[in-house]
Amino acid sequence: MTQQPVKTVVFPVAGRGTRFLPATKASPKEMLPVVDKPLIQYAVEEALAAGADTMVFITGSSKRAIEDHFDTNSELEAVLQAQNKQDLLDSVRGILPSWASCVYIRQPAPLGLGHAVLCARPVVGSAPFMVHLADDLIDSPVACLKQMADVYATYGRSVLGVEHVPAQDTDRYGIVSVEAGVAPRISKMSHIVEKPKPDKAPSTLAVVGRYLLSASIFDDLAKIGKGAGGEIQLTDGIARLMQREAVYAYEFVGKRYDCGTKLGYLQATVEFGLKHPQLGAAFNSYLKAFSANL
Ligand code: G1P
Repeated sequence: MTQQPVKTVVFPVAGRGTRFLPATKASPKEMLPVVDKPLIQYAVEEALAAGADTMVFITGSSKRAIEDHFDTNSELEAVLQAQNKQDLLDSVRGILPSWASCVYIRQPAPLGLGHAVLCARPVVGSAPFMVHLADDLIDSPVACLKQMADVYATYGRSVLGVEHVPAQDTDRYGIVSVEAGVAPRISKMSHIVEKPKPDKAPSTLAVVGRYLLSASIFDDLAKIGKGAGGEIQLTDGIARLMQREAVYAYEFVGKRYDCGTKLGYLQATVEFGLKHPQLGAAFNSYLKAFSANL
């Protein structure tokens, strides 16, 4: 079975980012840089690598910087041109290719991830779509959403990106249980629950912020009430969707950094710094000298 390519990615970016206050008081957490690119740019690059051409941002207050980041900045470009700084000019011009478009939808109130995704319905329509949570930064040889798009192209099912987490952390994630394996790394899901306490969790297989979903989930999201934390949960919508359609869990290849926490963000900064083409060698020497003195 070969499916139509999935072209639309939804980025819920309305969250307040309270864990990073005061850094996120006036600017979005998705604009926090890992070395020299903001988290949301890594997110969009992953979507582009998966073949998407329509980026739908579900925004809230204090999020204008995201719109500006993906827009042309003629004044800045003119200055860089006049200063003959071609590399920098290329880096700001190349953020978004001309064939990709951005759509911004304001989430009227912070009612939860499921509600944020539902806000994308008028743009997504009836085609399958992807959801990307920029907090979860994934470093992988093949972009995680591309891996999931390939699973969808083969099986034509909704796919969630998952990985095992420590048992004590289940209450930070949507947790799934799976039945028969379909192929290596791919299983049919039997159950999903939002943020269960470790003693109630059906497994340690956690949903990371990557989803490829059938558009029929919008009907579910429109019907469900508040769930865990008093919010409309995407997880609860997926649980309803599973009553009609098979949903697959996919153990992606790659390393995830939880940039929604300060420790995960620092780990990403160090490891992306070490891999940086211009900075890596010098940063490596610095870290070695620094750790020798610890
Ligand atoms: C959200 C989802 C959760 C998922 C997690 C991945 O939670 O509700 O199911 O496992 O993202 O990062 P949040 O991190 O927004 O609390």
